[in-house]
Amino acid sequence: MRFLITAGPTREPIDPVRFLTNRSSGKMGYAIAAAALARGHRVVLVSGPVAIAAPQGARVVRVTTAAEMYRAVRAEVADCDVAVLAAAVADYTPARAAKRKIKKREERLTLELVRTRDILASISRAPRAYLVAGFAAETHALERHAREKLARKNCDLICANDVSDGRGFDAESNQLKLFFRDGRSLALPHETKRKLAFRLIKILEELKEKRKKY
Ligand code: PMT
Repeated sequence: MRFLITAGPTREPIDPVRFLTNRSSGKMGYAIAAAALARGHRVVLVSGPVAIAAPQGARVVRVTTAAEMYRAVRAEVADCDVAVLAAAVADYTPARAAKRKIKKREERLTLELVRTRDILASISRAPRAYLVAGFAAETHALERHAREKLARKNCDLICANDVSDGRGFDAESNQLKLFFRDGRSLALPHETKRKLAFRLIKILEELKEKRKKY
């Protein structure tokens, strides 16, 4: 099968030397890409700026901003069987990036932010031939927020992780709770991102197989 996987953070420029970003390291998305490759699938990895090496065999599309990630995913998605969106995409970006470095003058500086486009919601509208697995990074009310994202973004599956108290982001291990379209949920054990990624790929293979039979 052909997998499209997003990973890492995005960077939203404020001026030529500053940007808004988050703590995503890319480890979760890269582990999913590596597991898919190890299971014999083809992988396109759309990656924000990270400091880790891409798994061998993946076709990597490097992007920086949320807008670039949006364009890259939209360009690739029609050719995939399964899309897994594990990137931590900025929800807001500065309304304008200053052309020159912003000088320190006033005591307070207000940045105007505007919403970015939701990549996941944009690719999951029906009809579509590919499966869509989104992520949900939550610090509270995990199940409520994950189920709400599953429905609003029309996903087949949401992989929810608790990111409170330094968990999830930039860690070697993680804990995922999966929420499916038919109402089922499945709590995976707390383990390395590598092992979790293998479990997830097998679950996605099974889901895709069932879907073919409809
Ligand atoms: O990279 P690591 O350090 O290994 O950390 C892994 C992780 C914590 C980043 C990963 O497990 C994770 O939770 N990724 C999703 C982070 C996130 O942005 O979650 P969210 O709940 O804000 O977004 C929900 C979904 O919408 C995600 O699939 C996200 O990719 C997608 N999204 C969000 C905003 C946007 N503009 N476009 C999107 O497609």
